[in-house]
Amino acid sequence: MTQDELKAMVGQAATAYVQAGSVIGVGTGSTVNCFIDALASMKQRIKAAVSSSQASSERLRSHGFEVVDANSVEALAVYIDGADEIDALGRMIKGGGAALTREKIVADLAGRFVCIADASKLVEVLGRFPLPVEVIPMAAAQVARRLIALGGRPVLRAGVVTDNGCSLIDVHGLSITDPAAMECEINQWPGVVACGIFARNQANVCLLGTPQGVQTLTF
Ligand code: 5RP
Repeated sequence: MTQDELKAMVGQAATAYVQAGSVIGVGTGSTVNCFIDALASMKQRIKAAVSSSQASSERLRSHGFEVVDANSVEALAVYIDGADEIDALGRMIKGGGAALTREKIVADLAGRFVCIADASKLVEVLGRFPLPVEVIPMAAAQVARRLIALGGRPVLRAGVVTDNGCSLIDVHGLSITDPAAMECEINQWPGVVACGIFARNQANVCLLGTPQGVQTLTF
């Protein structure tokens, strides 16, 4: 099976986690696009969506779904999103698609985070995928120096401006053995908007696409 077929498979499987008539949280990326497309055949099932990016909002609207502002809801039953890496405890690196801050906001509203990913995303230790960190542009160099002190190799993502008007730094060479501690540390630096470690807002369920079918991991 190709990676695209695995993504389509978990996108379809995630529709089973959508409660009829609910407002759901929707993430960003190619796997989530498969989920949105699968959801399109069951429009009556959701009332509306809170989206984590302009790209996902546009795709949802193109299928006729209503997209509502995060400020208009107090809580969401479920948030469906992909990941760049996920470990055996459900902790993730996210932000490859530049949407990490809004993804964290929507994930934080949700009672349950359902991660959808192909099997290549499951890792023993987070960090092989460069860690995205969203920063206020004037703090980019300052934050980069701190990331070097942490043992990483920060690279500014050229030409990318996030939906929040900020810059992204991708940090190579980290071995993230304590995701919660590193997330907490990076988050407190002035100028950091969000860091792509999702330990506090980790997945509760992961639907992993494998050639043998969808493997469900619960955390
Ligand atoms: C976007 C993300 C995505 O969830 C992550 O990059 C995975 O994307 P894909 O499903 O395309 O592999 O964090 O910011």
